[in-house]
Amino acid sequence: MIREIRLFGDPVLRQTAEPVTEFDAQLRSLVADLRETMYEAGGIGLAAPQVGVGMRVFVYDLDEEGVAAGSLVNPTISEPAGKCREEEGCLSFPDLTEMVERPEQVKVEGFDENGDPVCLVASGMLARCLQHETDHLDGIMFFDRVSPMKRRMLLKKWRKQRD
Ligand code: NI
Repeated sequence: MIREIRLFGDPVLRQTAEPVTEFDAQLRSLVADLRETMYEAGGIGLAAPQVGVGMRVFVYDLDEEGVAAGSLVNPTISEPAGKCREEEGCLSFPDLTEMVERPEQVKVEGFDENGDPVCLVASGMLARCLQHETDHLDGIMFFDRVSPMKRRMLLKKWRKQRD
């Protein structure tokens, strides 16, 4: 089922999401909905808070071959290495992008929707996507990671666009 993507301004995007405790049918249906909603919107990642669900879950898919695709439940990020600046955007903040500096490589650990452990050492675009989506679980938007001046400019453009 395609769910409505919440936009910046919706309080759910600023809340800290709760850890998942039950790997049940409800969780699997949430993950299926996140995937469907992400594909429909043409995104490469989507976190549960973006559809109004305050749980620590996200899905991602960076290619058509399904190599860099999956779901993460209760993810933790460790072992950041290097630095990289790339353009980032967000389905909850459409049409606006900015260069964001993040670690180039990270280790991400968690579970999939069946409760099986997941451990990824990711770099490049995948590392960026996994960090961006994990940020959503802590109420952090990508523009919280740019300079105050750039953030002000982005928010100004956002308000103008919404008028
Ligand atoms: Ni996002």
